[in-house]
Amino acid sequence: MNALTKLALGAMGRLYPRPAQGNAAPQIALPAPDKSGGLPLMQAIARRRSDREFARQELPLPMLSGLLWAGAGVNRADGGRTMPSAINAQEIDVYVALPSGAYLYDPAAHSLKLIAGSDIRRVTGYQDFVDEAALDLVFVADHGRMKLIPAGQRERFAFTAAGAISQNIYLFAASNGLATVIRAWIDRDAIAKTLGLDHDQQVLLSQTVGFPKT
Ligand SMILES: Cc1cc2nc3c(=O)[nH]c(=O)nc-3n(C[C@H](O)[C@H](O)[C@H](O)COP(=O)(O)O)c2cc1C
Repeated sequence: MNALTKLALGAMGRLYPRPAQGNAAPQIALPAPDKSGGLPLMQAIARRRSDREFARQELPLPMLSGLLWAGAGVNRADGGRTMPSAINAQEIDVYVALPSGAYLYDPAAHSLKLIAGSDIRRVTGYQDFVDEAALDLVFVADHGRMKLIPAGQRERFAFTAAGAISQNIYLFAASNGLATVIRAWIDRDAIAKTLGLDHDQQVLLSQTVGFPKT
């Protein structure tokens, strides 16, 4: 769906998901991430870039596992994560929009929990490529976990943590031949409604990931 149509539907509050493709499992246990693979860090940084042309091809589960672990996984025995967060509030939830449904990433269990049994990819942004790429991530701040941070600073701290997740994803993508782009041009109300978010949860950014169009 093109951006103009999405803008019009969004303005009317009628930007809806599509039916799911395939069966959505209520839970997806991700395989352990391969922590030895990928390019050396400096080569991955050298290749980091935004891309906006994606193939209509799903990611294999091991790649999805690595992507989510690199982005926001647990990397230490004490529950520490691959991204920083102010006073370790760990306030960012990562939602994963797949053709088969929308999932919430559980970093501790390294698994995905079904949130919506529909294909919500097109709701995650105005640009047309979001509808067809392998997946769209949505970064959501839970303000309920930031009670120790002064209210006026919570939003900017949350965006900072989401930016760190995004860069982890960029580097994973660069390292594994994937295309990605972080996006702020999104309909936050439509996304929040589709994901059934509550008043403490704030949609921050979305990020598309997939195989590049050849
Ligand atoms: C906060 C933020 C919001 C962005 N929003 C969008 C967006 O909505 N759509 C898009 O196509 N690119 C978006 N971008 C990507 C930028 O356009 C891109 O990073 C910039 O053009 C530089 O290109 P590069 O990432 O390849 O270096 C965003 C980047 C940032 C940091």
